[in-house]
Amino acid sequence: MEFGRNTITDEVLSRLQNTGNPRLKQIMTSLIRHLHDFAREVELTEAEWFEGIKFLTDTGRITNDRRQEFVLLSDTLGLSMLVIAQNNRKPERCTEAAVFGPFYVEGAPEYALGEDIANGAMGEPCYVNARVMGLQGEPVAGALVDVWQADEAGFYDSQYADNEQMRARGRLHTDAKGRLHFRTILPVAYPIPSDGPVGRMLSATGRHPWRPAHIHFMIEAPGYEKLVTHVFRDADQYLCSDTVFGVRSSLIAHFQQHQAGETTPAATQSDVPFYTLDFDFVLNPSSNAQ
Ligand code: BEZ
Ligand code: FE
Repeated sequence: MEFGRNTITDEVLSRLQNTGNPRLKQIMTSLIRHLHDFAREVELTEAEWFEGIKFLTDTGRITNDRRQEFVLLSDTLGLSMLVIAQNNRKPERCTEAAVFGPFYVEGAPEYALGEDIANGAMGEPCYVNARVMGLQGEPVAGALVDVWQADEAGFYDSQYADNEQMRARGRLHTDAKGRLHFRTILPVAYPIPSDGPVGRMLSATGRHPWRPAHIHFMIEAPGYEKLVTHVFRDADQYLCSDTVFGVRSSLIAHFQQHQAGETTPAATQSDVPFYTLDFDFVLNPSSNAQ
């Protein structure tokens, strides 16, 4: 039997009838429908179809343990934030989620409160004072907080070829009052890796590869939903055009600049100017999960 431009879709869909898993059947049906509608809508040519195949092939070729170009593609097409938004509906007072990104590394060193997680990473000193609480403002004691960020050159430790020890990343626990404080470095804006197919896509569509300055946080505590988010630095020129669409206004905070002197709450002396960040994280109780 032969199928034409308008009849092939139904025929392909009919071949899914033996799909055992109903969710897979639903996803495949919708995917095929949208894919065919897309090709019809733009009158896709054979040359363009082949360009697309080459693009996906290049995306696969450049992907390895340290580089996930498909995730980068999803991020820059806004798909990652869309999926996060529709899977993290929670009460308004809860801290919003943001993309995980490709630079998280498992097993970061554990630090005691007040310690320096920069561990030699270059940048202006920044002292973070945070609180982790529940919806009623109750302190979340003993929460595990994973922190990671880029250095002043805009690179994560894992992007350096000679990376031997983890820098500007660490794990800490909140105290009995749900508080957390540590020293790190001031985050700066940085471009996502753009030397691959995603970079070519961005420049072909007139887009820049920059993300506004941010620190990543992942917070886990029994009885609460896991939170993966960022805190963004206010007054960053890329807040309105983050290349991965990750910014939420509730996640923008002021990094206060100070002259050299005593830092709080660690009461150490900084002989150079430094910044402080104060931020409250509000977790969603697991019983609220939607
Ligand atoms: C990041 O913030 O680390 C990141 C997120 C998405 C894509 C690239 C980088
Ligand atoms: Fe980042």
